[in-house]
Amino acid sequence: MNIIKNEKITIRRPDDFHVHLRDKKILKKVLPYTSSIYGRAIIMPNLTPPITNIEESHKYRKRIMRALPSNHHFIPLMTCYLTDNTNPREIENGFLNNFFFAAKLYFKNSTNYTKNGVSNIFAISKTLEVMQKIGMPLLIHGEITDNDTDIFDREVKFIDIILEPLIKNYPELKIVFEHISTKIAVDYVIESNDFLAATVTPHHLFFNRNSLLNEKFLPYLFCLPILKEKKDQKALKKAVTSGNKKFFLGTDTAPHFYFCNKVCQIIKPGIFNAPSSILAYLKVFEEMNALKFFEKFSSENGANFYNLPLNKEKITFIHKPKRIDKIIKIEKKVSFPFLAGEVMNWSVIL
Ligand code: DOR
Ligand code: ZN
Ligand code: ZN
Repeated sequence: MNIIKNEKITIRRPDDFHVHLRDKKILKKVLPYTSSIYGRAIIMPNLTPPITNIEESHKYRKRIMRALPSNHHFIPLMTCYLTDNTNPREIENGFLNNFFFAAKLYFKNSTNYTKNGVSNIFAISKTLEVMQKIGMPLLIHGEITDNDTDIFDREVKFIDIILEPLIKNYPELKIVFEHISTKIAVDYVIESNDFLAATVTPHHLFFNRNSLLNEKFLPYLFCLPILKEKKDQKALKKAVTSGNKKFFLGTDTAPHFYFCNKVCQIIKPGIFNAPSSILAYLKVFEEMNALKFFEKFSSENGANFYNLPLNKEKITFIHKPKRIDKIIKIEKKVSFPFLAGEVMNWSVIL
């Protein structure tokens, strides 16, 4: 990494290890925000219907490549959505033949488009065994969602009820605890073995539940896992800026486009942060006086965890104000990007 004091920062091109691109017109609209910055991205499979086999994944990859601007160098890393009916052989074939980069575990109804998710972890035990054997990573939306669990306790309960036994039963299964949101999760990841790592989003670093709910309710900060307490936010900021190799960049950019006539009555969880994510992360590292670890978090830790070569290309930031778009339109529908209208200190030289 090269930092020219107060002027320019150059790092290896980063990767985004957690992205929702959706499909069709939305895919075409949102993809360039990711592919203009990031060299590779792990693509979430929670489409409708979800991507549950090699054939659908391959077709989805082709649609992504067709939507990609011709001057962008970008590699989508495809994932398979696990269900109670997942065939372990399909997972094995998909991974060994480079169709699947990883498998994604959503528990049933834990977030958007997860009604086909896994109802009970035992339903996929054969698949987990195979994945451990072949070194295929398991990516988890780590929240328990039974009716009795409070929304703010879902992640911590997931650690006790699912993650801890999972690690005991499959000690060499590579697991990514996605978008962690609590201090308890941070501490758990730090203390566990090297087969467990975590992604952290810009929104969980920037905000806490007071930002979402105090004074006025800001629906565009509604996401899952829901924003937690200030102490959790503080622990996340400390973890990512510490240089610890177990934490890496995964934005969970999750676009939703609404046609709102006066008031949107139903707001789905999800924050479209691709237009601001890298500048938001940079701001956190600058404020924490940790610019020296920015490249590790953004461009090295994740690639190393996934055994990918580091990107050779570079990206340069210049100390020049950049205003994030207030609104992003697709036909008659609108989306509000993360930090819409805010001015960031740095701009990317494209
Ligand atoms: O807030 C979220 N939105 N969290 C998720 O896990 C899924 C995502 C989506 O797909 O909209
Ligand atoms: Zn998730
Ligand atoms: Zn996600």
